[in-house]
Amino acid sequence: MKHVLSFSFLIFMALSVFGQSQTNERAKWFADARFGMFIHWGVYSGAEGHWKGEKLRNDNDYAEWIFYRNRIEKDEYLTLLDRFDWDEIDPEEWVILAKKSGMKYVTITAKHHDGFGLWNSKVSNYDLGDYTNPGRDIIKELADACKKHGLKLGLYYSHWLDWEHPFGWDHTMELNPISQEEYDKYWQEKVIPQMRELLTNYGEIGMIWFDMWIDHSQAIVSKEELLQLKNLIRELQPNCLVNSRLGLTIEEDPDIDFKTLGDNQLGDKKEDFPWQSPATVAHSWGFHSSDSQWKSTSTLLKSLINNVSLNGNFMLNIGPRANGDVPFEIQQRMLEMGEWLNVNGESIYGAEAFDLDKDLHDWGKITCRKTENGEKLFLHVFNWPLSKKLYLTGIKAKPEKVYLLADKQKSPLHFSSENVFTEIELPSLQPDPYVSVIVVEYKTKPEIEDGLVAKNQEGGFSLTPGNVYENRDEIQIEKKERGGTIPEHVTIFKPQKFLWKIYVDEPGKKSVDVSYSFQNKNGSGMIKVSAAGGSLVHEVENTGKTVGEANSNWVIDNYKSNPLGALYFADKGFYIVELEVVPAEGESILFQWAWLK
Ligand code: GLC
Repeated sequence: MKHVLSFSFLIFMALSVFGQSQTNERAKWFADARFGMFIHWGVYSGAEGHWKGEKLRNDNDYAEWIFYRNRIEKDEYLTLLDRFDWDEIDPEEWVILAKKSGMKYVTITAKHHDGFGLWNSKVSNYDLGDYTNPGRDIIKELADACKKHGLKLGLYYSHWLDWEHPFGWDHTMELNPISQEEYDKYWQEKVIPQMRELLTNYGEIGMIWFDMWIDHSQAIVSKEELLQLKNLIRELQPNCLVNSRLGLTIEEDPDIDFKTLGDNQLGDKKEDFPWQSPATVAHSWGFHSSDSQWKSTSTLLKSLINNVSLNGNFMLNIGPRANGDVPFEIQQRMLEMGEWLNVNGESIYGAEAFDLDKDLHDWGKITCRKTENGEKLFLHVFNWPLSKKLYLTGIKAKPEKVYLLADKQKSPLHFSSENVFTEIELPSLQPDPYVSVIVVEYKTKPEIEDGLVAKNQEGGFSLTPGNVYENRDEIQIEKKERGGTIPEHVTIFKPQKFLWKIYVDEPGKKSVDVSYSFQNKNGSGMIKVSAAGGSLVHEVENTGKTVGEANSNWVIDNYKSNPLGALYFADKGFYIVELEVVPAEGESILFQWAWLK
């Protein structure tokens, strides 16, 4: 045990000196690939989310859970295989779809929680080899297709849950627990030998994707069993990646290759360690005939871009039907993403997070990649500005060249640049559907000015408790409530100051508005805003109440924007804007934001 820990520690130390991130050599291809396909396909695909006329017993619509949710008997469950059309099923079609969609790897449910293997397993008789004639081995077929089309193959393997094996974990065992010894019997006679088969018979495996979404300390699986499994992978295929849903966190075992976020959970902070969001196009993973709330191509593409802008990957799922068909809505969206990536792939593959605050710009997300001596930035414009001007704030360097990624000629876009502010003139029509990408090239690695508030698309500065200049984490922001009718704010009981740093590129008079909620007498508190040597004082007024929804007894304290007057910014340059909120003794003011334009 001891040597395992010290080995992990050494690896951790080695990782900390890497670039993007703490990506180890093994995971390099993964961090470059950024976009992959998940395939949920198995016996459950024949049920299509229904059993004997009844819909799946769970609102999450996870059709691959029908065995467990609808309390189906193990043998009867396999009657669903009668619905499979083996002449039509061709895994190569899934791989071709992945390739056309710009995905670089494919991860299939070799064995999902139902315990049924999609290959011919010698150590179990609950697998395709035993139930097809002639025997089919979907893992082999998929492995061959991946090899042919140059994609990496990943295998999802449900290690913790296995509903068919008498000692595999099944949540009902929370009522009638099995012993650790019994569980280990399942582990040694099914998990370990099956993993050996999968890692021996199918050539190079890019990753094993485990699916235990809680830590091992809360589950029957022991850390020793997990390490045994991981060591087997390291022994048989030293280049194969292992995800954190093995049940060990990166903190506990830095030798895990990448972190898996929750289902459909997108990234929200930059991470230096490789990570990935597993995502669906609607809700279910396995095919579900009544699951039809499809996310749009634009939503999916922006999710991919969001993740890459924070150093993450996006693995998007298909749930083929029992005849192998991929639902049209999924295909269509994936192919549209592929077309976009065909033009704009340079901003995604091998690209990484740029050091500016992820929320600095209101028009979209930035990714970057190093060039020989400098850096290329990719500005993903989610919302083409009405003004046809794109403001880029926070970079202390003059771009070398600016052009549209979609423009093969790289015709230069006009821009002006001073200090930390660059203004780019956009063509009136955006070239791509969904999102267009502007490339900004720098000769050398540009320096960053931290802590700024950017000029937004309207040309103003939105000054909030969340984007103050320093010590952002120390401010107690109250979350929005009641569907956002009570917005984010800071409750202020005693005098409190907020400081923001802005860069003014257009000197002159700027007006100031402050939004807050106050329920006591007018004039019993004050707000003062100072910048550029001037200040404005405002006597706090009662903001009254508002109604959240008709006839539902829903009355909320109003947040109201108050004009304070104007401040004069004589020159271009950096300014600190200070806002002081001073409530009267025993009273509170709920500060929301200030607006400067
Ligand atoms: C969950 C579900 C499962 C699905 C997976 C995908 O853990 O149990 O059905 O395969 O997430 O991320």
